[in-house]
Amino acid sequence: MKVILVVGARPNFMKAAPILRAIADLNRTEKPQITPVLVHTGQHYDAAMSDAFFADLNLPKPDIYLGVGSGSHACQTAEIMKKFESVLENERPDAVIVVGDVNSTLACALVTAKISFDANGTRPLLAHVEAGLRSFDRAMPEECNRVVTDHLSDLLFVTEESGFHNLQKEGIDKERILFVGNTMIDSLFACEKQADNPRILERFGLIAAGTNGSTKTSPYVVLTLHRPANVDDRRLLIEILDGLQEIATRATIVFPMHPRTHKKIQEHELRSYFEFEEGESRRDRPCAKGLIKGIGPLGYLDFLCLVKHASLVVTDSGGIQEETTCLGIPCVTVRENTERPVTIEKGTNVLAGIHSRGIRDAINAQWQRVPKSCRPEKWDGHAAKRITRILLDHHQRRQRSSGQSAGTQPIHSRPAALEVQP
Ligand code: UD1
Repeated sequence: MKVILVVGARPNFMKAAPILRAIADLNRTEKPQITPVLVHTGQHYDAAMSDAFFADLNLPKPDIYLGVGSGSHACQTAEIMKKFESVLENERPDAVIVVGDVNSTLACALVTAKISFDANGTRPLLAHVEAGLRSFDRAMPEECNRVVTDHLSDLLFVTEESGFHNLQKEGIDKERILFVGNTMIDSLFACEKQADNPRILERFGLIAAGTNGSTKTSPYVVLTLHRPANVDDRRLLIEILDGLQEIATRATIVFPMHPRTHKKIQEHELRSYFEFEEGESRRDRPCAKGLIKGIGPLGYLDFLCLVKHASLVVTDSGGIQEETTCLGIPCVTVRENTERPVTIEKGTNVLAGIHSRGIRDAINAQWQRVPKSCRPEKWDGHAAKRITRILLDHHQRRQRSSGQSAGTQPIHSRPAALEVQP
């Protein structure tokens, strides 16, 4: 069975890595085997946004690199579609796996759903990992990507129960929805030990020598902001930064910046809120009061270590809401909604909105709450194993029913009923 696995942007890498590992594990014991083809669209291309994650997650070099780069939503999506169509025609895989909700996810799903390898309309099976999440906010580009990808997919692998219900309400057959857990959390478990390296805490002066050779971590906040809705508009960005001022006088705030956020801070002339990492002398001491320590994007392991030891995380990311839930770190989400309600239900995450007062109040309520790990159902490190098992079983069932020999023909669009459900 030949499977194309698509990645494009930073959050895709940790969702895809466990799937490749699970395929390798399965291939050690099973026949027929799964032949994976890793396709990187190049949506994220900076070394810090892509290569660093490949190294930290032990991902192999992509088999195919499309090199699309940045662009408007339409241009980027169209460019990926054009290039991915040729990939499908050349590779003729049995299945395509897309993960998450970025433009690469949508583009490759659309191409897979519409391609036809022969007069019968034969095409690869399309599987969406992290299906069913809904913010119910169509102004979010990711929400459009999620809805369209889900409605095109043959198999929908969901991470939390809300995903199952959302998809059913939208009329998707129950048989195609599979509650398997969260592959991003598979990566967290796989890398947690390796990530526990104090070098990143030392770099920011967050760790001090205690008695008897022990060390003590000072309370600090990790901040991430990258959504266009939060950083593109100067007035809104100031609202958010003002909401962080009070806590900045009490604790170091470490802010690994997405390149777009860094660019916007320069453009909006908001450098006065930050202390940027200039020169070695400033690196190893906490930030001056009232300022936010602005640094470049971190790799996966360093970021995980920083989050794991933080007193609080303030973010507008989706994945970080999930990681903090799993690690039991209090999280304040700088958004009006979340597509990941389980993080709120478990009590680690609160929605603060995007106004300074709400952000300040949420931070005060969450600050130094006692960490409590609360793993949602099936976030147990085995999601990728379930996904690959289902894909292979499905493929074998189809082959038996059509009497084909292994790997000679792509899968038709409509999968047979599947049995795994919440
Ligand atoms: C994308 C995803 C978002 C995800 C985020 C994670 C979409 C619609 N959005 O947003 O869901 O949360 O990735 O980071 O797919 N840039 C660089 N170097 C890079 C990549 C981007 O400098 O390697 C800059 C460019 O100026 C680019 C901008 O960042 O125009 C935005 O990149 P893009 O991939 O379009 O979207 P993200 O904001 O990263």
